[in-house]
Amino acid sequence: MMLLNSSRTTVNRIGSIISKTTFIRLNSSESRPLPPVQTPESLNILGNTYKTDEWTNATPTILSLTDRKLHKQPNHPLGILRNLIETKFEGMGYTYYNDFEPVVSTHENFDILGFPEDHPGRSKTDTYYINQSTLLRTHTSAHEAECFKTCKTPGYFITADVYRRDAIDRTHYPAFHQIEGARTWSRNEHGNNIVEVIRADLEALPKPNIVVENPSPVFHVDNPKQDNMSEVETELIAAHLKRTIEILVEDIFNRAKEVAIAAGSTDPDLHAPLKARWIEAYFPWTSPSWEIEVWWKGEWLEMCGCGIVKQNVLQNAGITDRIGWAFGIGLERTAMLLFGIPDIRLFWSQDERFLNQFEAGKINNFKPYSKYPGTVRDVAFWLPHVEKDGDLLHENDLTEMVRSIAGDLVENVSLHDEFVHPKTGKKSQCYRINYQSMDRSLTNSEINEYQDQVRQQLSEKYNVELLPRVFSSSLSQTRSIRPSLNTFNWSSTSTTVSQSRAGHQWAPRFKNVRKQHKGRVPVRTGGSLKGSAVSMGEYGLRLKSDGARLAAIQLKEADNTIMRIIRPIAGPKLFRMVHCNIAVAKKGNETRMGKGKGAFDFWACRVPTGKIVFELGGPNLHERVAREAFRLASDKLPGVYEIVKRGDLPKIGFQQVAAPVKRNFIEEQMKTPSNKKLANIIKSKDPEILKYKK
Ligand code: PHE
Repeated sequence: MMLLNSSRTTVNRIGSIISKTTFIRLNSSESRPLPPVQTPESLNILGNTYKTDEWTNATPTILSLTDRKLHKQPNHPLGILRNLIETKFEGMGYTYYNDFEPVVSTHENFDILGFPEDHPGRSKTDTYYINQSTLLRTHTSAHEAECFKTCKTPGYFITADVYRRDAIDRTHYPAFHQIEGARTWSRNEHGNNIVEVIRADLEALPKPNIVVENPSPVFHVDNPKQDNMSEVETELIAAHLKRTIEILVEDIFNRAKEVAIAAGSTDPDLHAPLKARWIEAYFPWTSPSWEIEVWWKGEWLEMCGCGIVKQNVLQNAGITDRIGWAFGIGLERTAMLLFGIPDIRLFWSQDERFLNQFEAGKINNFKPYSKYPGTVRDVAFWLPHVEKDGDLLHENDLTEMVRSIAGDLVENVSLHDEFVHPKTGKKSQCYRINYQSMDRSLTNSEINEYQDQVRQQLSEKYNVELLPRVFSSSLSQTRSIRPSLNTFNWSSTSTTVSQSRAGHQWAPRFKNVRKQHKGRVPVRTGGSLKGSAVSMGEYGLRLKSDGARLAAIQLKEADNTIMRIIRPIAGPKLFRMVHCNIAVAKKGNETRMGKGKGAFDFWACRVPTGKIVFELGGPNLHERVAREAFRLASDKLPGVYEIVKRGDLPKIGFQQVAAPVKRNFIEEQMKTPSNKKLANIIKSKDPEILKYKK
């Protein structure tokens, strides 16, 4: 369905529809019970009460938009645009409907229009359900049947608010407006003359001055004509439909040109005739179907979907003698270019500085009243392990959740990074949230509070394992560590400082740094093999000489050296196995008591003998390339290094030892249930318990 405003809805979303029984739980194979989702027993929308069920996914934020009726406000850009279109077709036999309420049945929205059962538009990730059989209309076509039935004129226009679960950014918002137009001719009334009547109606339409590409034939096997219409009838109706839309497009874009010229644009296209093209489309209730695209500011803009109404849709509405067309056009996009409104969320603004700029019947360029800086936050997590393929957490679910927490302060939510662990197959994701307000500055503490809620809800509702936050001083943003690099447990924070230094990639990205003694580099004396064998990639660079303190700046140099070599080859991946979490002060903290109170100068880490500093892995990595990269990198680092391969034995200090035997504590414990020590080890590995370990 739905091509307007939602070009990102693609069929492959079918695969990502989450569990049928609940809209928020995941079909996690883990046995840990998920906290129940709180949906009220019933919802009151515009004076009617609806029972909720496991399909309910309309949020209070979205429901609060249903009574705004922006298209009916005469001084609102959407109201002005509606008026303009209605005036354009005044006296041409159209009835205007502007009062349809947004809650409709699945029958009206989908079934009557012939949407197949598995159409992605029906999925809970794309549509707001009130309950299994009721939803917030996703398009104005939901009222087509009713209007065909009741309308007394040959044509009609429906303007209304429509709702689709979608990402939020400057051009997408989960609520927007559409105008639906339709026009039919009655066989009963015109009899054999119907062709002449349509032809006359077509000829009576003004000829718009635009250059139109109309490459494909009116109908063919893939965009077929209907059986109850002759070829001539189909051609004439198609021509009438296209001409009507071209008139609309010409009117809108000529006005947009005037506004752009008045605003000082020197684009040469603005003085050339308007260009548009027809392309074929598919809608379940029209055939043949098309879309029109308009050349605007250097790109093709998709304006509206349309087609010849299928016979059975009219028959379902009890109309057997009429044939005709329908189209649907999104108002926001059009209004954005007409009024120069840069952000779709502004339409919902209740700020006087926005509302007072517009006046009924007038098109003027929007003047930004202020620009406040935005702020970015990342949230990264491991998804719970599931047996089956498929996304556990749809981008729309996350967007929705963030929106329900921070409302319109959310400028944009996007999947920033994704990582599948090569061994465990576990998947981690990093989402980037852009917070921005149109009319005020945001404070860090306020955004951090929202971000805390986002994290909390993510872990409660989706059972994800959150990755700790990190801090990038160069961008002054709180970020999460890239999961792929996170082989180190950062979570210990006791005494904390918030100080920023050296904003490069090797500086720690967490905000709260534990102040600690620079300390001695540990010497491995027998206990730990940690990090001494290749674990992530295929080759590793291991410290061979005495333990060293490596500064972030040195590691960065070595990192750059390796990247310079592997970057041109697609595939190889660098794993950074040590992390700089020690704030070193060049003078002072050696002699001071405690953990050092003053400022510090650089970041460093302690690397004991036998620890791997870098690993290289991934496809297309030749051993000689890895060796060369490591050889050059080790020149940049203090100490002597050796190059090891996957499978090489781990080391304790200088001593190579046999690979440790992996113990299966659970099995051991089952054999000796009285062994308390084993029970404690198992407990200490439980992720739930780890959360509380500071
Ligand atoms: N309802 C369609 C949409 O939302 C547009 C459309 C309307 C297409 C009428 C054909 C006929 O994309």
